[in-house]
Amino acid sequence: MLADMTELSADPAMTPPVTRACAVPSYLSRTYHWAYLNRHTLPWLDRSLVVSAILWGNAGRLMRAAVEEFAPGQRLLQAACVYGRFSRMLAERVGPEGVLDVVDVAPIQVANARRKLDGLAHAQVRQGDLARPGCVAAEASDAVCCFFLLHEVPPVERACIVHNLLGAVRPGGKIVFVDYHRTRPWHPLRPIMAQVFRWLEPFAPSLLDTDITTLSPLGEAFTWKKTTCFGGLYQKLVGVRRG
Ligand SMILES: C[S@@+](CC[C@H](N)C(=O)[O-])C[C@H]1O[C@@H](n2cnc3c(N)ncnc32)[C@H](O)[C@@H]1O
Repeated sequence: MLADMTELSADPAMTPPVTRACAVPSYLSRTYHWAYLNRHTLPWLDRSLVVSAILWGNAGRLMRAAVEEFAPGQRLLQAACVYGRFSRMLAERVGPEGVLDVVDVAPIQVANARRKLDGLAHAQVRQGDLARPGCVAAEASDAVCCFFLLHEVPPVERACIVHNLLGAVRPGGKIVFVDYHRTRPWHPLRPIMAQVFRWLEPFAPSLLDTDITTLSPLGEAFTWKKTTCFGGLYQKLVGVRRG
């Protein structure tokens, strides 16, 4: 699938100057067509109840934990669309003095997110592959939020995305990853999640034992704090770029 992609220039104040063809990655169309590229399933999946069920009732808590890391007036980059109200929560958090910049590779998701953010002039959604260099401008964001994207991406693209997102944070800025994590051994959902990952989320197991901070050499420029919840099934990793 091909679509137009607009890339940011190195100067964040400038209007994006380059438009090129951007392919939806093969891992996405092969593995997650039913979840993110299908116009029939999208309206059913994009419901708070469904998002909450997928995260075992933790969606609201995890979204709030991410949102509270950001502040009014920030220029915030959201890496990929998320079902439910998450983008709106982020836009409301940074407020009209800030900017919410959402980037997703799937045109159908871009259109859907634009619909959900309608009326919020400080929120913009554009198409782009976050694994590609140049998709996000260097050091242009006060903050970056990456919510449950990394487990859906193969290891090579995951490292590229982490590298690009770390590079987008200005010195003194913050990055927040919320995603799956290795549960404690006694966790009652451990065998169930193993089957869910096996059938639906084939790249997730490779994230569970990965230290996200080491996926890019830029990780060394950040001070990190990781917390886990729900028996270790979920992690929030917060990095502040020194400088
Ligand atoms: C954030 S993740 C999953 C979020 C969560 N499971 C939910 O409830 O929506 C899903 C999104 O990631 C996007 N995506 C996957 N790979 C991407 C990439 N390389 N660049 C930009 N967006 C990507 C997909 O198009 C999809 O909209």
